[in-house]
Amino acid sequence: MPAIAIIGGQWGDEGKGKLIDLLAEKASIVARFSGGNNAGHTVVNEFGEFGLHMIPSGVFHSHVDCLIGNGVVINPRVLISEIETLQGRGIDVSRLFISDRAHLIMPYHLLLDALEEDARGKSAIGTTRLGIGPAYADKVSRLGIRFGDLLDKDLFRRRLRAILNHKNTIISRVFGASPLSFDEIYQEYCNYADRLLPFIRETSLMVNEALEKGDTVLLEGAQGTMLDIDFGTYPYVTSSSCTAGGACLGIGISPLQIDKIIGVYKAYTTRVGGGPMPTELRDATGDMMRERGKEYGTTTGRPRRCGWFDGVATRFSARLNGFTGTALTKFDILDTLPTIKICTGYGLEGTVLDNPPPNFATLEKCRPIWEEMPGWQTSTHHIRNFDDLPREARQYVKRIEELVGCPVDLISVGPNRDQSIIVRPIL
Ligand code: IMP
Repeated sequence: MPAIAIIGGQWGDEGKGKLIDLLAEKASIVARFSGGNNAGHTVVNEFGEFGLHMIPSGVFHSHVDCLIGNGVVINPRVLISEIETLQGRGIDVSRLFISDRAHLIMPYHLLLDALEEDARGKSAIGTTRLGIGPAYADKVSRLGIRFGDLLDKDLFRRRLRAILNHKNTIISRVFGASPLSFDEIYQEYCNYADRLLPFIRETSLMVNEALEKGDTVLLEGAQGTMLDIDFGTYPYVTSSSCTAGGACLGIGISPLQIDKIIGVYKAYTTRVGGGPMPTELRDATGDMMRERGKEYGTTTGRPRRCGWFDGVATRFSARLNGFTGTALTKFDILDTLPTIKICTGYGLEGTVLDNPPPNFATLEKCRPIWEEMPGWQTSTHHIRNFDDLPREARQYVKRIEELVGCPVDLISVGPNRDQSIIVRPIL
């Protein structure tokens, strides 16, 4: 079997972690390809409930190699603490591997993320302040430090000295903050290197070899298409490529090797941080979604903005990624509602847009065109077959399939692995 990409179809937090944990049973590799510890994947299984930020969600399966690809930016302190937390709870992490080409998040990235956000004032992006944007900016500016550089301490020392001089000039002269100490960072990162050395590999080679053998590889996305650096609601986006295209770049495989691309959609919409969200509800229904859906960030604890399913954004992401199927998550959160709305188009100054407009200011002016459907007002937690869903629930799924232009393969009706309706087997 080939590679299957699992991609967020909205603004992140769609429930990719549960799907990957479920599918990993039949995979030999789960490889994360983008983002950093800004991501938070919640996984609930027989070992308990886990909030993962860096380690791929396949880690609970002892036969699975978990890879962190070259497209990911890694804060080694956070990664080590996640490894230790998992080990402390009896989870084996000996099959974790880190790409030698993955970039490091450095202390100046965290500091600059906070200083830049503060300087933006009212236009702040609402980043996680975890240094993600500055780390990716340095990658592109050729000022990054990669795990491979840590393997040669002398090379690391020379690179860090030159880069830190440059960063300290910005920190002190532009922002008036205190410069960071070379010795402290060098020592701290040499300690991390010693600790993480056994995990560093050429992960692209591992994935390509596995695919040649016919093994199944899951490509684990982070964030969502509407936060993608190119196609998201720029500049209110994250700094990496969250799409299926990003999976090839962030792992090092050919696009021809991806056989299936599964889009993960929540049955409604959530977003954390700033930026436009056309279907946002600032009312009791939005509050109900937040409370029933426990819509608080896994990483920052921030309350998520909640709203109805956005057929325009999701159709856009299906087309952009070439989704071959979708998973509809948190379906049960809608169980109590008498009526449910779906956005089928964006109204803008007397016209109807079928696609997101090219800038955030225009998107802010768009008003959703609503379609109202009856709710099912009965619990779906226990349902395991599509045909056993209430008629109104099946109608809702069918309408989403029509709007998005892609079949629903799986419906999640609760956080546990078994609370899943398999409509069409993904693997
Ligand atoms: P950054 O990725 O920390 O630079 O934040 C940029 C934007 O992406 C902010 O609006 C964040 O809230 C959002 N973001 C980053 N990671 C996630 C995620 O995993 N889920 C949802 N939103 C995210």
